[in-house]
Amino acid sequence: MRKSHKIDEHTIGEKMEPFAFKGRHIIDTADLSNDEIMHLVKVCDEIQAMGDDKARTLCKGKILATLFWEPSTRTRLSFEAAMYRLGGNVLGFSEAKSSSVSKGETLADTIKTVSLYADIIAMRHPMEGSALAASQYSEVPVINGGDGPHLHPTQTLGDIYTLIKEKGRLEGLKMGFLGDLLFGRTVHTLVRVLARFGVELHFFSPEGLNIPAYVRSDLEAKGAVFTEQEGLGGRLAELDALYVTRLQKERFFSEEEYLRKKNSYVVDRETLTRAKDDVLVLHPLPRNEEIHPNVDGLPNAGYFRQATYGMQMRMSLISTCLGVKA
Ligand code: NCD
Repeated sequence: MRKSHKIDEHTIGEKMEPFAFKGRHIIDTADLSNDEIMHLVKVCDEIQAMGDDKARTLCKGKILATLFWEPSTRTRLSFEAAMYRLGGNVLGFSEAKSSSVSKGETLADTIKTVSLYADIIAMRHPMEGSALAASQYSEVPVINGGDGPHLHPTQTLGDIYTLIKEKGRLEGLKMGFLGDLLFGRTVHTLVRVLARFGVELHFFSPEGLNIPAYVRSDLEAKGAVFTEQEGLGGRLAELDALYVTRLQKERFFSEEEYLRKKNSYVVDRETLTRAKDDVLVLHPLPRNEEIHPNVDGLPNAGYFRQATYGMQMRMSLISTCLGVKA
């Protein structure tokens, strides 16, 4: 059986402060302290330990609105599944054309209105800074489900939970990131949090798709240990986990450019023979061709478990921001 690690005093550190999540917006992981992140992890475990029936009483009568102006499967549906598993209800839209945005309504007016109907809002929008702007018009907590190529805090928190459950720690892990690191918001958000927890970072990306300058300078400012290269090369053998991402086709400047980079990296069973036996392969999904399906049957393939942990983390976020869980 796959081992799943328990969060103990050692993992979360000695000092636990009282946390004030009730009524709070979750826009950027930079707004959360390390202790607060570990508190969310602890709440995740507590909710899972309650069992399904008890968990379904936590948000009884509460309403989550999911406002998605950009396509999504996991993020939107896992927010909705999280709320249903907490006993709450869900309303919202999954594309701009099914909302009044198609009639020219502004983001501000949409948010002001929806915050009168719902107790909490999860949103995704193609514009950088949109969730922050929305939080200024909302009467209820706003959770950022992705703002353009910028931030994706709930994916990061789910990924942190995944690493702790599967690897038992963060500090001292050596983690690789392979793919489109220029446009991939999951990586931009995650690596800056991992640096705060002492994870060593190794970036592998096709030429021209390396991490953006603002991420690099943030890592430098945090004193993070990181390297950048094109191919996995010999470094693969050192890694405890490998986080793979697809090319963010929709954010490329031209189709031609995308086609040139397409299929420039693929992880398959053969690749993993060069890695540690227990290397954990993660992917925020959706995947294209960058992880061969022949990896799916290996215990190393953590990406579908990662989707479950992501949903559990959203249960933790919804219940703490609504104040039903302290
Ligand atoms: C990611 C996203 O939307 O940024 N997916 C997700 O939220 N699970 C990754 C992607 O689209 O490649």
